[in-house]
Amino acid sequence: MMTQTSAWQTLAQYYQQSGKSLDTRQLFADDLDRFNRFSLSAADLFFDFSKHRIDDQAFKLLLQLAETCHLSEKIDAMFSGAAINVSENRPVLHTALRCPADKTLDIDGEDIIPAIHKVLAQMRHFSEQLRAGHYVGATGKAITDVVNISIGGSHLGPQMLYESLKAYSDNTLRCHFVSNIDATDIVTTLAPLNPETTLFIIGSKSFTTIETLVNANSAKQWLCAALGDQAFSKHFVALSSNPQAAAAFGIAETRIFPFWSWVGGRYSVWSSIGLIVMLAIGADHFDQLLAGAFAMDQHFRQTDFDKNMPVIMALLGIWYHNFFAAETHAVVCYDQYLQLFPRYLQQLDMESNGKSVRENGQSVTSSTGPIIWGDCGTNSQHSFHQLLHQGTHLVPIDFILAANSLHPLGQHHQLLLANALAQSQALLMGKNETQAYEELIAAGMSATQAKTLAAHKVMPGNRPSSTIMMEKLTPYTLGALIAAYEHKVFVQGVIWGIDSFDQWGVELGKVLAKNILPQLTDHNTTAKHDASTQGLINYCRSRYSQ
Ligand code: F6P
Repeated sequence: MMTQTSAWQTLAQYYQQSGKSLDTRQLFADDLDRFNRFSLSAADLFFDFSKHRIDDQAFKLLLQLAETCHLSEKIDAMFSGAAINVSENRPVLHTALRCPADKTLDIDGEDIIPAIHKVLAQMRHFSEQLRAGHYVGATGKAITDVVNISIGGSHLGPQMLYESLKAYSDNTLRCHFVSNIDATDIVTTLAPLNPETTLFIIGSKSFTTIETLVNANSAKQWLCAALGDQAFSKHFVALSSNPQAAAAFGIAETRIFPFWSWVGGRYSVWSSIGLIVMLAIGADHFDQLLAGAFAMDQHFRQTDFDKNMPVIMALLGIWYHNFFAAETHAVVCYDQYLQLFPRYLQQLDMESNGKSVRENGQSVTSSTGPIIWGDCGTNSQHSFHQLLHQGTHLVPIDFILAANSLHPLGQHHQLLLANALAQSQALLMGKNETQAYEELIAAGMSATQAKTLAAHKVMPGNRPSSTIMMEKLTPYTLGALIAAYEHKVFVQGVIWGIDSFDQWGVELGKVLAKNILPQLTDHNTTAKHDASTQGLINYCRSRYSQ
């Protein structure tokens, strides 16, 4: 196990001896070239990791850790289609989805790249028809609104990308998202829509997910009540790796966009699950998204680990999570378009690495997956940054920002950038009591008052952050960014020895919900529950009136 290896033990010793007391301010003072040495460019992203509590020795030992867990071989195994999702005995090939058409990848004796590009072509054709107004509904009217019904990985990726790339949408189609089983979601979404001009996309890898199927059925009833049963086929398309189930739901074969079992839900936005994104931004922009992700894939596969962005992101995370015991990791995007990015990363990271057993079924011997959270700067500065600056928790942060705005209000963007850079600087540099005291005296405060207040104004500093910059938020740079995080999650999973591609922890709740469901209305059922759950069921039963 990884924690018993000499690489891990050496890191632990180094952490105790020096690592935990490293002061990044001192590291900058000692090395005028630190920014250059601890930053890199990859796939049009610039990654500054110089503000972290690592010196050359810590960095070297972290890289050794990556070697010790045979990371190169594991990367090769993933890209070449080995069944690295061991608990489900499946390959993990979301990277194949962004492979250019001239590549080949044999899985079980068959090149899978042509099939991937066939579906992309099917998506392109459909999206061009729809965007041009040539695809009409049952009454002959062009589609104006598209409702994507899905949940989890089939929802968070498309919705995040749709929001993030809105500037690339020409708004020929209005896009909507329904995911929650809560009726409010579908009712409020459908309320302003016209069935004649509405198309539903049902996105579900398994096509068995209860939330998606119930929402899909409600959408079907809504549509058929207005236009008749015969209208259904023109207004519904499906995205699934279970096309038989989609067909059984009644969706015409020509309107089913397939993908494959080797695409994990939270890694699926590159597949037909991304259809609504293509509808919004057009197929050419979607191709750029894939190209950006492919460029990051190439960087990840081909670059030495000491210059490899996803590997370094992962190793820094390990350093803080496993050695400094930092339990959370914040992602703060100084870009309003990226407002859903932290939420997307929550699923990507926490569903992938929130595990307590290793691939071999034995317990992990270290803490795994950090809690991912975040929001958009500058709003976050006015809510939780207080804790980041002066709280008792160590929270490593990723700041994400683009040098240029997509809007011509330069003053806004300059302020946005200045704020982003100031936050990471304040976290790094902090302010000591003497500085705080002298500022207060200079502002005219009495010595006694200044002494009392200065203590409150101390900022410890030495708080770590990465800054990921891009020239501009584009489909290409966003594709690269997402792929970087996917690979970071993968590398951490390799180090912890876990299967990052299953999600067994979500199953029990689904089964229990099925047990509870009939009891909410039926007083005669006898299934036993713990006293709390039974009490809550009783409460619902006695008050439920619909
Ligand atoms: O709840 C977990 C999960 O299996 C996710 O991993 C997945 O993305 C989501 O449910 C939706 O699954 P499906 O695409 O099969 O409807």
